[in-house]
Amino acid sequence: MDARRTGAFGFAVIALMASSVVANDGLNDGPNDGRGAFARPDTVPFPAGNPYSPAKARLGETLFFDPLLSRDNDRSCGSCHAPDMGFEDGRALGLAIGGGDLPRAVPTVLNSAWGEHFFWDGRATSLEEQALGPIQADLEMAQNLDDLVAELRAHAEYPARFAEAFPASPEITADTIAQALATFQRTVVSGVSPFDRWVEGQEDAISEDAKRGFAVFTGPGNCMSCHSGWAFSDFAFHDIGLPTTDRGRGAYLDMAELDHAFKTPTLRDLTARAPFMHDGSLPTLEAVVEHYGGAFVRRPTLSPDLADISLSTQDKADLVAFLRSLDADLPPPGFVPEIAGTPPPEATLDISQMDKAFNPAAVVIKAGQRVKFNNDDTRSHNIRLHAEALEFNSGIQEPGETVEIPFSTPGTYNVFCGVHPKMKLTVEVKSGEVK
Ligand code: HEC
Ligand code: HEC
Repeated sequence: MDARRTGAFGFAVIALMASSVVANDGLNDGPNDGRGAFARPDTVPFPAGNPYSPAKARLGETLFFDPLLSRDNDRSCGSCHAPDMGFEDGRALGLAIGGGDLPRAVPTVLNSAWGEHFFWDGRATSLEEQALGPIQADLEMAQNLDDLVAELRAHAEYPARFAEAFPASPEITADTIAQALATFQRTVVSGVSPFDRWVEGQEDAISEDAKRGFAVFTGPGNCMSCHSGWAFSDFAFHDIGLPTTDRGRGAYLDMAELDHAFKTPTLRDLTARAPFMHDGSLPTLEAVVEHYGGAFVRRPTLSPDLADISLSTQDKADLVAFLRSLDADLPPPGFVPEIAGTPPPEATLDISQMDKAFNPAAVVIKAGQRVKFNNDDTRSHNIRLHAEALEFNSGIQEPGETVEIPFSTPGTYNVFCGVHPKMKLTVEVKSGEVK
């Protein structure tokens, strides 16, 4: 795997990685201490207007890391949203063109597929809308969109890549640039952490300190009233009492009641993402829990959810241990792209076979779904699967031919190519609803 995609904490781009699927069976019969509310989903949501395809996600990834998108061709999205720093930059405030500070810290793009509003003040309502912002912002990439479209159209490789990603409208436009970037960003999902294994019922996956910290988080710490769900965010806006002059959501909506309210960040992979908060003012997790322990400014806009928090010294140490257990140490499992507003995928999940590789290389599906192999390679392949519940041999599959395998029995299946056995696909078939 490309080193850029996998940081020290196991961040990876889920659709593109080759790894076996981590099972999370038994979730529903796990211990009844509230951990089930933080279980990882098996699907990643994509909007109906910009559905997932592997080619589009790959194109978006190339664009995300290409300095060509900036006026001076010297910085990419990835310069500020760096995978080895949790898709942030390690600085208190973002680095402006010319070396100064941006007004706010760089937020992560991890788990943004689940977000509804983007930027700290929520001024963009989709990742598609968001993407064109930094390209044109004077202090970020300072690029003229028409110039960028012209540069990409004249490029040696991009026209073919866009044609592959957008077969119905192959002409490069600002919209297709934004759609590719958004699709890639939705595949940037936190990897599997020790906490996830504990949620699945592996009792020794996290320390006793972290378990006590979880109890504080969901109990007297009241953290989960805002940091809820598997990504630990309600994706809503709150004033948590930082001594900031930035009006945040209040300025954007012109509502004094929302002054100093900022979007709740995801709490996964925090260690790589220090310093913290919209202004980068808290350097460590210890400083964050001190803040919540009472070091906040009491003003009319302060969220009422902070009023009753009371944390002992032990609680604070335990909270930090718990937050660290959310750092991924394994890549994310494969996923089913879920299109918003449409019923769960009944029929098929498409797999590419280009360049002697299955892409994606690991998927999670629901019993009853079919996996469709499109031979978009220049070579002949032979799709095979040998399992107790299912034997399959496609015979020779010529370029251009498709092969479908229906999976009706839950379990983990290893599909390979009889001609090129290094081509491997792990299919995890779950029973019941894939949520
Ligand atoms: C110069 C550094 C810099 C560059 C380059 C940059 N960003 Fe950002 N990005 C930021 C900052 C700072 C913010 C927060 C701004 C705010 O909230 O007012 C941000 C916010 C975001 C968000 C919102 C995340 C959230 O949860 O609200 C996304 C998504 C994003 N950027 C994607 C991109 C993409 C895509 C590119 C390339 C086209 C890019 N960024 C280039 C600094 C940068
Ligand atoms: C009222 C809602 C709310 C409550 C309750 C709350 N948080 Fe937060 N949390 C937020 C918001 C909003 C931010 C971002 C604030 C900002 O930058 O101005 C944040 C930021 C954080 C961050 C920094 C993340 C980053 O990416 O910079 C951590 C860590 C954190 N909270 C942990 C906790 C813990 C632990 C608790 C319980 C003791 C808690 N939070 C309680 C809303 C809340």
